[in-house]
Amino acid sequence: MNIAVAQSGGPTCAINASLAGVVRQAFKEEKIEKVFGSRNGIEGIICDNLVLLNDVMKNDGDFELLIRTPSSALGSCRYKLPDYRTDDAPYLKIEECLKKHSIDVFFYIGGNDSMDTVAKLDEYFSKKGSDVRFIGIPKTIDNDLVETDHTPGFGSAAKYVLTTTNEIIRDTSVYDLKSVMIIEIMGRQAGWLAASTVALRANGINKPQLIYLPEGDFKVESFIEDVKHELSKENVVIIAVSEGIELDDDTAQVTSRPDGFGHKNLGGIGKQLENIVKDRIGCKVRSVELNVLQRCASHFASRTDLEEAEEVGAQAVKQALSGASGVMITIERINDKPYKVDYKAVEAKKVANNEKPFCKEWLNEKKNNVLDDAIGYFLPLIEGEVTMITENGIPLHFEI
Ligand code: F6P
Repeated sequence: MNIAVAQSGGPTCAINASLAGVVRQAFKEEKIEKVFGSRNGIEGIICDNLVLLNDVMKNDGDFELLIRTPSSALGSCRYKLPDYRTDDAPYLKIEECLKKHSIDVFFYIGGNDSMDTVAKLDEYFSKKGSDVRFIGIPKTIDNDLVETDHTPGFGSAAKYVLTTTNEIIRDTSVYDLKSVMIIEIMGRQAGWLAASTVALRANGINKPQLIYLPEGDFKVESFIEDVKHELSKENVVIIAVSEGIELDDDTAQVTSRPDGFGHKNLGGIGKQLENIVKDRIGCKVRSVELNVLQRCASHFASRTDLEEAEEVGAQAVKQALSGASGVMITIERINDKPYKVDYKAVEAKKVANNEKPFCKEWLNEKKNNVLDDAIGYFLPLIEGEVTMITENGIPLHFEI
């Protein structure tokens, strides 16, 4: 049996740990002979751009380095497969490539868009009576996949966001004057990552005082009132804002061309809010866009996250060998304290193109903050650290 694995969508700190999980488990399985990596997601299968990972991953050291390497070592894509009933051209190319290399299982590590690919491929190949299996492996810093408690990649991103927010609070607090700091955090239409800043309260840090999520109902006038109110109580006001919030005035977010799945490239809302505070309040104000740092800062990744990411990869191989297809591995939380999870599988089509918003029950009434009730959800996901492997004091990365 031969298998192929690919990575898709926005990268994370943990997506290579899932790749390592698939490959390491596959090497343990007697039934599996060749393990191919597909470059740039499904595009690598369409264009027959594969790499034989049996020749790349030689020893435990390679796996340990790959696990600590941020971003997608095989490259990524945002390619949406058309409906095979109207356009089967890419499906025929995929069939040809899988046949050429005798690939029996294709593993796709990705988010809700990638699960759309898994579901479509599973449907197409099973309609044709083919035995090829397709398994989805979850990842996204947005934590917006349905059917799973959380997604690999999120814990490390949250750990970075929390750590950086804490450091920014220190920096912002040095002057004896009124100042506002706005921290823009990724997550598209789901506010999980921005909401995770609430976990600073577990350490007695009562900032950010304001947290705005796409699930809230952002109004510029209420925002000004909120900031003024916080400034009347304290010199320093820290605001966490999710990149996906929309302003209710006519200054729409500036975005670039949408990707294959119609997602706008967000970024810049923090700067817009900074200008609003400058104009309307006039105090010292800065904004920081955490941008890609929050998904590639592997030097302070969450050990829990990396371990789970590797495990979902291994579980995917086990599922495939038990005959499953068209499924995505899920993480079920059994307990917060002590933290315990279980791994299951769900139909990929249930996850495809769906988004899990941040829990409404964890938002305060004014929708400008997150309730303490959410802290217990976040804390286990950011637990633990991993020692970096360095050269000249600089973390080393694994290249495929
Ligand atoms: O899908 C994850 C994500 O990192 C989002 O948080 C972000 O909005 C988007 O990807 C950015 O996309 P790109 O990688 O194309 O810049």
